[in-house]
Amino acid sequence: MLDVRDICKNFGGLRVSRDISMHLERGERRVVLGPNGAGKTTLFNLLAGTLKPTSGEILLDGARITNLNVEQRARLGLSRSYQKNNLFEGLTVRENLALAAATGEGKTSSFFSRAHESRSVRETVEEVAEMVGLADRLDTGVAHASYGNRRQLEVGLALATKPKLLLMDEPTSGVGPGMIDAFHRLIASLPREITIVIVEHDLDLGFDVADRISVLNYGEVVFEGTPDETKGSDVVREIYLGDWQGDA
Ligand SMILES: Nc1ncnc2c1ncn2[C@@H]1O[C@H](COP(=O)(O)OP(=O)(O)OP(=O)(O)O)[C@@H](O)[C@H]1O
Ligand SMILES: [Mg+2]
Repeated sequence: MLDVRDICKNFGGLRVSRDISMHLERGERRVVLGPNGAGKTTLFNLLAGTLKPTSGEILLDGARITNLNVEQRARLGLSRSYQKNNLFEGLTVRENLALAAATGEGKTSSFFSRAHESRSVRETVEEVAEMVGLADRLDTGVAHASYGNRRQLEVGLALATKPKLLLMDEPTSGVGPGMIDAFHRLIASLPREITIVIVEHDLDLGFDVADRISVLNYGEVVFEGTPDETKGSDVVREIYLGDWQGDA
């Protein structure tokens, strides 16, 4: 469903993405791992549409999306959840989800204040709250929500637009150790028809959630395989040396 073909991205003379190719099946969970500066966020932005590649093509269900912007890609079913909070602080969890759901339905901003009154929006809000574990937090003001709940809500906002492809950049960054497992389970439990690409520094998320893992180093895909193949890879071990000794 997603085809990335020989993508390159240069910033001036710096080659940050080098001939990246990936093919994802529908429903696949792909984790893109790599150390700091490997080019993960750059790849995320190329997929999301906030950056345009220097060369190469990106196809979504066979359609060329290489030169489409974020909004155009969203209309084709591509949604992303941010590394950084992007929430309306003055609103409740329910209202935040309703806004995202209304946007997903193409409703205009003048309608936002009444968004939660639409039946389809209400249904989406409840469905998504259930998926991300916020069903009992719907009336909590975002400003009073815990850090973990805020991260859950960010994933919820992306889901509320009913994407067929969901992109996440380090969804567990800053989530406390006590919540990491719960967050991995949350991601693993998302509806299987949604294809998911997660860009991530942490090996464990890859091992817990991925069907396949792509490993980036210096802007290049240096390895692709199942979690087990990744654990057994000398190339990956070398890159992550120290991070997982005694753990593999
Ligand atoms: N807009 C830009 N202009 C110039 N260089 C950039 C730009 N964006 C990123 N880079 C460089 O590209 C390289 C890859 O950056 P990127 O943010 O994609 O890495 P990353 O894998 O996401 O790292 P991290 O784990 O720290 O999030 C880095 O060397 C970075 O300095
Ligand atoms: Mg990054």
